[in-house]
Order: sequence, then structure tokens, then C-alpha cells
Amino acid sequence: MISLNVPSFVQHTKLIEWVTHIAQLTQPKKIQWCDGSETEYQDLIQLMIANGSMQALDPETHPNSYNVLSDPTDVARVEDRTFICSEKKEDAGTTNNWQAPDVMRTTLNGLFKGCMQGRTMYVVPFSMGPIGSHIAHIGIEITDSPYVVVSMRKMTRMGKAVYDVLKTAGTFIPCVHSVGMPLTNDIKDVAWPCNNEKYIVHYPESREIWSFGSGYGGNALLGKKCFALRIASVMGREQGWLAEHMLILGVTNPQGKKHYIAAAFPSACGKTNFAMLIPPKTYQGWKVETVGDDIAWIKPGQDGRLYAINPEAGFFGVAPGTNIKTNPNCMATLQEDVIYTNVAMTKTGQVWWEGLTKTAPEQLINWKGQPHQGTEKAAHPNSRFTVAATQCPSIDPDWNNPQGVPISAFIFGGRRADTIPLVSEAYDWVDGVYKAATMGSETTAAAAGQQGIVRRDPFAMLPFVGYNMADYFDHWLTIGQTTKIQAEANNLELPKIFNVNWFRRDEDGSFIWPGFGENMRVLEWIIARCEGTAKATDTAIGKVPRYQDMNWSGSEFSLSSFEKVTHQDQTQWKKELESHGVLFEKLGSRMPKTLLQHQAKLLKKFSQTEKI
Ligand code: GTP
Ligand code: SPV
Ligand code: MN
Repeated sequence: MISLNVPSFVQHTKLIEWVTHIAQLTQPKKIQWCDGSETEYQDLIQLMIANGSMQALDPETHPNSYNVLSDPTDVARVEDRTFICSEKKEDAGTTNNWQAPDVMRTTLNGLFKGCMQGRTMYVVPFSMGPIGSHIAHIGIEITDSPYVVVSMRKMTRMGKAVYDVLKTAGTFIPCVHSVGMPLTNDIKDVAWPCNNEKYIVHYPESREIWSFGSGYGGNALLGKKCFALRIASVMGREQGWLAEHMLILGVTNPQGKKHYIAAAFPSACGKTNFAMLIPPKTYQGWKVETVGDDIAWIKPGQDGRLYAINPEAGFFGVAPGTNIKTNPNCMATLQEDVIYTNVAMTKTGQVWWEGLTKTAPEQLINWKGQPHQGTEKAAHPNSRFTVAATQCPSIDPDWNNPQGVPISAFIFGGRRADTIPLVSEAYDWVDGVYKAATMGSETTAAAAGQQGIVRRDPFAMLPFVGYNMADYFDHWLTIGQTTKIQAEANNLELPKIFNVNWFRRDEDGSFIWPGFGENMRVLEWIIARCEGTAKATDTAIGKVPRYQDMNWSGSEFSLSSFEKVTHQDQTQWKKELESHGVLFEKLGSRMPKTLLQHQAKLLKKFSQTEKI
């Protein structure tokens, strides 16, 4: 029987019993109770360098920074291997994979049995949200991957202080992770162990997470998508709050007035970049600050405003496309203390990815560890950096505020080559919820599977809602209703809801809108709409700016280009509305009536307009 060696800072009987049980099941050679210290971190880094799973970068140019190359088959989230195992199938809904909990438990028991043989089992305590905050929630991740441990230390508030909050009987979300590759005498270890068979499993009722077979971020860092979105969305529905795939930014105008905005874009569709936006040169006196780049927990306050926190403590961001022009704040964040995954490297310890510079450096080693050649990508399209949020120069002074920041507007955006205009404002909350619910986006490299296919991705949450999507829409409608009453009692309005699309393309496939810092022009219009100082024109699909309603100082973006990115094409919109219908059909009987009625109104509006 393996020795537990429980340290004195762990006093929680149930937790110790649980760890004992998982150790008996998985049979690791050793248990390490992580305390989150610098020494522990450095030891793990040294361990990974020694066993060849991590490479140190040039300490002069990239202090304390490393690159990890994954197994070539384990590079992204695996949506078809992700399960919501609610007691009843209807509670997972038609957009989630489901299996009966007892059936899944039997399968997982089989897979986890002995799966940590020859490996160390790490017990990782973490808090999503500031430790001890009333908004925060605690998780404990058991994992056999040192890469997961060092990544969790950057991405969450990880360490001993979590046990001080838990004390002897506090609540935590149990998260069990294994790469699924035991080390026995006849199996030699590899740099990135994983298993062909993968299971990312959530039990919403008992609030447990079990992940098998992958070492990749969203599949393995269980505080992130599994806990802070799938399980938290279930908690939020029961308790009256929202867990969203949203960035949070603060924008201050030259008069010093500040608004906070939360924006949902699907994976690899621009959240990190928008959260770190630097306004164009001519925007003297404007400032954008970063609260979070991926996840928001949003709770109604007593005053009728919605308050958002970023439950994470770091960024696990997309490397390709990031450079000194597109995202200078990000480049500054990456100056030191970074763990890269699947980027390309030179022999002298410099990193490179597509879009960092125009041309690749000589003698580059690609993400598969081979010499870079021809037209193959040097870095994997979903290669990432992991870095602490505190290193970001634009980090908001209130990013750590346990009360959260009040939200003035919500933005929803997809990656769409056509159909969807640059920006539009919803007529009201229900209209906004309808548009978020029916949003579509091209699939990206963040998830395994075909890329560039337009699919409905409601609220950018298709892969992340831990319950029935139709019930999730209903929850949004309810939050709007209850918050509105509270807001009006305080002479406030509900946040406005906008849709954006940075990704319209022209005939030869290039992006028409310059994007990145230039997105400030759209953001300014959005803020001005919230303050009632900008004009908008009514169209069938929402309120939109004319060219002259936006600020073009210092820009060469022409009226004719503006017309291209704002054009509403009748034929394309007809198709778009049909796809809304297909989604609603799929969601079935639990679809809120309010949204079905709204759809009927919209269809009528379209049939009556010659031109939209
Ligand atoms: P996840 O971390 O997967 O949730 O992604 P994200 O939404 O944070 O996406 P991110 O900001 O990392 O952007 C993904 C890709 O889109 C990168 O290659 C960016 O360079 C690119 N991108 C971001 N913003 C813009 C934009 O405004 N215009 C264009 N053309 N590309 C953009
Ligand atoms: C995403 O895919 O939306 C990400 C990366 O932010 S992951 O953590 O893998 O989910
Ligand atoms: Mn994400």
C-alpha cells in the first residue's frame, strides 16, 4: 500500500479519503501534495527538462521560459470525447454528448484502474477567483502530469492558501486527471504521454470532473473549461449567475469615464487580442485595460448591475498571429516566465510561430521536433503560451477585485467570412439573447476536427454549457428579467447587447477589416451607444452605424470598404435565418417560447422587406 504522506497543512478528512480512494484505484508510485511554492515549480521544471519533455529557451532573451512539444495527436480540445453525464439525458440536451452516469462510471473505473502506475500522482489545490472571495470556488485536481501542475500554477490561484480556506470540511470540486499511460517494465516513457482513448467527463449533479487520455490544456487543466464553464454554468443556473466564455475589458475615455465590457467570441476568434487592445495613435486619452481574456463569472449585484470576475489567474493564449503590431501588450506579457506549447524553436532557444515575423528564421525546428520545411506550419495552429495575468502591462487595477466589475455592454462575435456585419446593436435584451443564441462561427484549430466550417455556436458556449442549451437560453432570459426590475428601481438600464464580426473577407479571401487595435473604433461606437451619444440606423437585423457615425481619425478605411463589411445580403440572410430554424429544431421542446416568438417576428420582418 502506497504511503499517503499527508502534510500538516491538509486537515480535510473527506479530501484525504478521496485522495486515498483515487490512489488505490490508479496505483501511482508516489503521491506529491502540491503547495504552490516556487521551489516546487522549479523542481518540476527541472524534472521535465531532465526527462526531455520540456526545452529551456535562451535565458538571455526568454528568462524562465520553456517550450513543450505535445504528442502530434494531442493538440486541441476533443469535443466529441467530452461528456455531460447528467442523471437524465434531457438535462444534458441535444448539443452535448451524454452517457448514463453509472455506465460512464464503469467505463472510467476500468480505464483509471492502475493508470498511474510508475508515475507520481500530484494533488493540486486551486481557487477559481481570488482566494477566499465570496465569488470564488475551490477545486482539487489529481493529476499524473507535471505539465498540468506547472500550468495550473500559472492559470489559477494554486497552493497551500487554498487549504487554509477549505479547513477541515470546506466544499471543493474533485477533478481527476490522468494522461492514461501507466509506466510498467515493458512501457518506456515518452516526452508527452497520452492515450488514444480520451474521455473528458462531467457529472453535473455530483459536481465531479474526470479526464482521461489527454495532456492538452482544455482537456487537462480542469479548472478552466471543465470547471469554470461546464460545472460552473450548472452552479450558476441553480444559484442565479452566469459562467461565460467571455473576455472582460475596461475602457476609459479622455474624460476619465470608465466602462467595463464583456465579450464572447468562440475559441481562437479574438478574445485575448480584444482584451489587450491598444487604441490607435489618434485616440489620445483613451485607455483599454484587461480584466480577463477567456472566462467570466457574472453575478447580479444588489444595485441592479451585473458584476463580472475573471476566475482565472493566467492566460492560455493562441500564439500564431501574435506579434508586436497585432498585440504589443501580449508580446510584453511574454517577456519572461512563459510556458509555450507546440511553438517552433531555433537551435539557439528562440521561439517562432506563423505571424510572429514575416519570414521564418533559418534552421527552425517545427512543433513536431523536426526541421521546418516548405509550406508546412512551423508552429501548430493551436500552439499556445501559458503566462500569469500579472505580467500583462494592461492588467486592470480591479482584475483581482473579489466584488467584480460592473458590465455596461455585452458583445458577441463570430468568425464569419460573409453575412454578419461589422457591428450591430440589439433592440433589447430578448433580441440580444436571440442573436447570441443563433450566432454562427467558423470552426478553428482550438478543437479537434474540421476547420473553417460555419456552425451555430450559441453564446460562443456550444462546447462549454454543462446542461441543456435550451435551458441555458432560458436562464439568460430570466437573468435579464430579474436584473431589469432591480436596475429600474435604481434608475439604471440593463447592459446593451451587440454583435460584431472582425472576419469578413473579400473576393480573394483576405480580411477586409484591419482588426486588432482598429477594433477600438467599433468599441468607441458601442460605448457611445451606451451613453446615448452616437447615432444608429434601424435595420431588420439590428441597429447599425453609418460610416459617418464612427470615428475614422487616423484611419484610411474607406467608405467603400465600410460598405463591404457592413453589407447585409438578402440571400445570405435567408440562409442564416434557415440555420436558426435548424438549431431551434435540434434544441427541441425545451426551447423558450419567447425566442420562438422572436424568431417568428424576425421572419415576418424579413418577408416584408424587399431589402434589409
Ligand atoms: P481562445 O483562447 O481559443 O478562447 O481564443 P481567443 O478568442 O482568445 O482568440 P485570440 O485572441 O487568441 O485570437 C485567435 C486568432 O485570431 C489569432 O491568430 C489572432 O491573431 C487572430 N485575431 C484576433 N483578433 C483579430 C482581429 O481583430 N482580426 C483578425 N483578422 N484576426 C484576429
Ligand atoms: C479554447 O479552446 O477556447 C481555449 C483553450 O481557450 S482551452 O483551454 O484548451 O479550452
Ligand atoms: Mn477559450
